[in-house]
Amino acid sequence: MHPILPPFPTTRLRRMRRTPALRDLAQENRLSVKDLIWPIFITDVPGADVEVSSMPGVVRKTLTGAVRAAAEAAELGIPAICLFPYTDPAVKTEACEMAWDPENITNRVIRAIKAEVPDIAIMTDIALDPYNANGHDGLVRDGIIVNDETVECLVRMAIAQAEAGADILGPSDMMDGRIGAMRAALEAAGHQDVTILSYAAKYASAFYGPFRDAVGASGALKGDKKTYQMNPGNSDEALRLVARDLAEGADMVMVKPGMPYLDICRRVKDSFGVPTFAYQVSGEYAMLMAAIRNGWLDHEKVMLESLIAFRRAGCDGVLTYFAPEVAKILNEG
Ligand code: PBG
Repeated sequence: MHPILPPFPTTRLRRMRRTPALRDLAQENRLSVKDLIWPIFITDVPGADVEVSSMPGVVRKTLTGAVRAAAEAAELGIPAICLFPYTDPAVKTEACEMAWDPENITNRVIRAIKAEVPDIAIMTDIALDPYNANGHDGLVRDGIIVNDETVECLVRMAIAQAEAGADILGPSDMMDGRIGAMRAALEAAGHQDVTILSYAAKYASAFYGPFRDAVGASGALKGDKKTYQMNPGNSDEALRLVARDLAEGADMVMVKPGMPYLDICRRVKDSFGVPTFAYQVSGEYAMLMAAIRNGWLDHEKVMLESLIAFRRAGCDGVLTYFAPEVAKILNEG
């Protein structure tokens, strides 16, 4: 892999960097519009369709707004959008029943988009937090986030989303055994072609802060998610999680957050060679946008550089709040 270089001046590595044309020819990785998944926040709460204060430029969308966003994404050539609901505290319960209600905002938006923009892939989030009175991704009993009962709820949520027409299910809950349970239930219900993009290596991260504002979970969350999300100090464990989720029937896997975990992306891709995605999460977006808004970083350049990093680290694609902006730039060439 590493040829011995003839010594200077026979070898001058700057030769290939001399002009834009030579640099283009030698470029190893590229970012394409086709690598993007656009996460959007949706809501049916009156007055909540406004900008998220900690995510400048990100506006929650009503059902109609979500359909318009899907059409815009399709127009730009973005292959998939991912839906995250902002919910009214009044619908949050300890049992989280709203999570698998066919009429919840996510399922209504899925059906509306499928009717108007049939070709875009719709990805969902599977976890109980938008509907949980205590903000956790799982059911809480006596202060413990219970695994197996949560999995039963997640399976109901998955089936409801598949029935509504979702193309890609995104279990982000980090419970054990959920992928196998969902895959079996999907097969049994005749949804054998619905894909699962497992949030396989999801870390307990402070970079999710702005997202919890965006979905209205910050106020509700009691404690932290460290008993189910990964310890940021671990790397081998990520490979065990990916292996486990693939064995249970995941089609694609995700590493999350993104930029602080590029080493994990590379290990996952090298170890398994499966479709691998990273999530450039809300805190990464907020951090870049804060510096951009202050004039400290160049918007376009830093956005593109932050995204090519995922391709270089081995990712096939990336979930990013920058998707439509970056798509416009890439389409202009
Ligand atoms: C919830 C979920 C989270 C994100 C995606 N799904 C937050 C969390 O686990 O607390 C974070 C996304 C982001 O920060 O952009 N299950």
